[in-house]
Amino acid sequence: MNTTEDRAQELPQLVRLLTLLAAAVALLAVVVLAQLLGPAGPAQVVAVTDEATEGPPPPGSYHRPATPAPDTALIPLTAAGREIRYGRALVARTAAYLGPRGTVGSYTNGMNCQNCHLQAGTQGFANNYLAVAATYPKLRARSGTAEGIEKRVADCMKRSLNGRAVPVGSREMRAIVAYIQWLGTGIPKGKEVYGTGFVPLPYLNRAADPQIGKAVFAAKCQSCHGAAGQGQLLAHGRGYQYPPLWGPGSYNDGAGLFRVSRFARFVKAAMPFGASFDHPQLTDAQAWDVAAFVNSQPRPHLPTPHDWPNIAQKPIDYPFGPYADSFSATQHKFGPFQPIEAAQLSIKQP
Ligand code: HEC
Ligand code: HEC
Repeated sequence: MNTTEDRAQELPQLVRLLTLLAAAVALLAVVVLAQLLGPAGPAQVVAVTDEATEGPPPPGSYHRPATPAPDTALIPLTAAGREIRYGRALVARTAAYLGPRGTVGSYTNGMNCQNCHLQAGTQGFANNYLAVAATYPKLRARSGTAEGIEKRVADCMKRSLNGRAVPVGSREMRAIVAYIQWLGTGIPKGKEVYGTGFVPLPYLNRAADPQIGKAVFAAKCQSCHGAAGQGQLLAHGRGYQYPPLWGPGSYNDGAGLFRVSRFARFVKAAMPFGASFDHPQLTDAQAWDVAAFVNSQPRPHLPTPHDWPNIAQKPIDYPFGPYADSFSATQHKFGPFQPIEAAQLSIKQP
């Protein structure tokens, strides 16, 4: 029960409360005034340019050097060695042999395998080939079949190089496979090869944003890849100095890089040119957002009605339905991916 004494004790507390309240109101007024009188422009634009020009993240997450490729000086001076060297040349300068004006024939677009498999497939986490020999033939969910190295190479010719595959058994196919197998020299089946494939990249807590990605592209990619993503041809015109990122000369929408996560993980460890997995130049958000922007631009279409015969095995970021879950194609393309992953886990672990 409240007595007069109690109320008298409450009085100083009330004063303190009122003082605090007054201070809070004053602070609010200062913040509002600062907003009104501060630099003009919508907050959204500031966020965009900030992200686009943000400096590289501090190095240090990856101290371990990638598994090195065998020394090319050790390729034997035999017929088998000649085949391996030819395979390496085909990977590094694909367009000169198989491009639109290629010396072997016109099979693929003007790009090289090496444009995406850096340093002829040997750079750490830049789509590196070192584990291929030890892991193929392998069951791939995209086709629902066991695939040998030839099928995997043919896939990149049809999709990433938006062309047609050289025949199995052709001198070129045999050479590329021989080179990839040589890269796997001494790597037994099942051994972990640090540096193959892509670098891990955490999901953002939001959808990847093509609008922000556009600003990242302008700040960090356009100088080489061109304002329209068209790339820059070499002077003789048979191949690119800087490969295209979209448009008719680029990879098609059936290619691995068309998935936003593949693109983001590739560029995080490899772009702008000169970056590496242990010295990245993009923040995680920049990598995701620029991936969303580039993969929103026009590019060749490849009908792939037979891909992912089991739709429950479609990757989280596969941008074409139908899906086994109820998330939209847009969310599957750009995220946020955590809710999709959580839903898939709950299906798999009832
Ligand atoms: C536009 C980029 C691009 C180009 C060009 C490209 N690839 Fe690929 N390649 C990829 C991506 C991305 C993957 C991984 C796909 C995935 O994980 O879904 C891949 C995967 C592979 C793999 C399987 C690697 C593994 O560890 O499973 C092989 C082998 C391969 N490519 C060979 C080639 C060859 C040979 C060429 C040239 C004829 C080529 N690629 C051109 C993007 C490209
Ligand atoms: C200094 C020039 C330069 C800058 C800047 C640069 N790139 Fe590249 N990029 C290259 C070159 C050169 C290659 C091909 C590498 C090779 O063949 O060895 C390449 C290849 C690529 C590829 C794979 C091939 C293709 O065309 O699809 C992608 C994807 C890519 N860059 C994305 C980006 C993104 C995104 C940025 C900005 C964050 C960027 N690059 C900034 C020079 C650059």
